[in-house]
Amino acid sequence: MRSLSGAPVDLPAAYAMDRPLLRVNFVSSADGASTLNGRSGDLGNANDQHVLGLLRQLADVLVVGAGTLRAEGYGALRVSDSGAAWRVGRGLPAHPRLAVVSARLHGLGPEHPAFADAPVRPLVITVDAAPAGPRKALEDVADVLTCGDETLDAAALPGLLADRGLPGVLCEGGPTLFGALAAADRVDELCLTLSPWLAGAGPDRIIAGPPSVPRRLALRHVITDDELLFLRYARPVP
Ligand SMILES: NC(=O)c1ccc[n+]([C@@H]2O[C@H](COP(=O)([O-])OP(=O)(O)OC[C@H]3O[C@@H](n4cnc5c(N)ncnc54)[C@H](OP(=O)(O)O)[C@@H]3O)[C@@H](O)[C@H]2O)c1
Repeated sequence: MRSLSGAPVDLPAAYAMDRPLLRVNFVSSADGASTLNGRSGDLGNANDQHVLGLLRQLADVLVVGAGTLRAEGYGALRVSDSGAAWRVGRGLPAHPRLAVVSARLHGLGPEHPAFADAPVRPLVITVDAAPAGPRKALEDVADVLTCGDETLDAAALPGLLADRGLPGVLCEGGPTLFGALAAADRVDELCLTLSPWLAGAGPDRIIAGPPSVPRRLALRHVITDDELLFLRYARPVP
């Protein structure tokens, strides 16, 4: 992994996470697709997985939409042994918490491995209108929080997490959740892996939902492994 000038990069320093921060991470094809063969994994490579693991290591909480949990087959959230040691050495819990955003709580039973095998009690972030039965069942395995009436109150999400001691937020999507956070102007950073694929027409972009106000970000770094580009964009400092 190197900078464009060829200099080796200290990845933990390049992705250091100031708190509070809401960082979003996505991989995209060169023509803007969020998936290849229905999932994001085929767009990346081992270095992309390494950066993903590092971003998780640096965060207090990993927020993910239920659609991504279902599509990408998420299991329990665990960082590597070295990542856990790094965290403990800095006074953090060994693993970040997982927070799943869902209004319908569909397909999210307590037996789901993301809950059943979790090393730290996960969060479920839902809404007032969520069905009572699935909500009650999830309360056995997760802290279930309400954030919104019918849909997520995305503007309130970072504060809700910070109030629970989780100011460093990594969001791994998906596009619907990213759209809601961007529309609420709550995205501080976008870490974007650009993959050398023309996926062609069909797959969605990395953001979805109703149109929202365009916002310009500042480019903070470009890292490459000669195959992928690792771009870090941040909200400009006023
Ligand atoms: N390229 C990448 O890096 C990347 C990253 C992540 C995902 N993906 C791909 O994206 C696709 C999934 O897209 P998606 O848009 O369905 O993902 P998503 O945002 O993870 O999931 C949408 C679901 O999450 C819940 N949710 C998200 N935002 C909400 C809001 N504002 N209010 C209430 N509930 C909300 C709802 O769950 P309920 O239906 O349970 O209420 C909603 O149906 C998959 O194909 C996945 O592979 C790609």
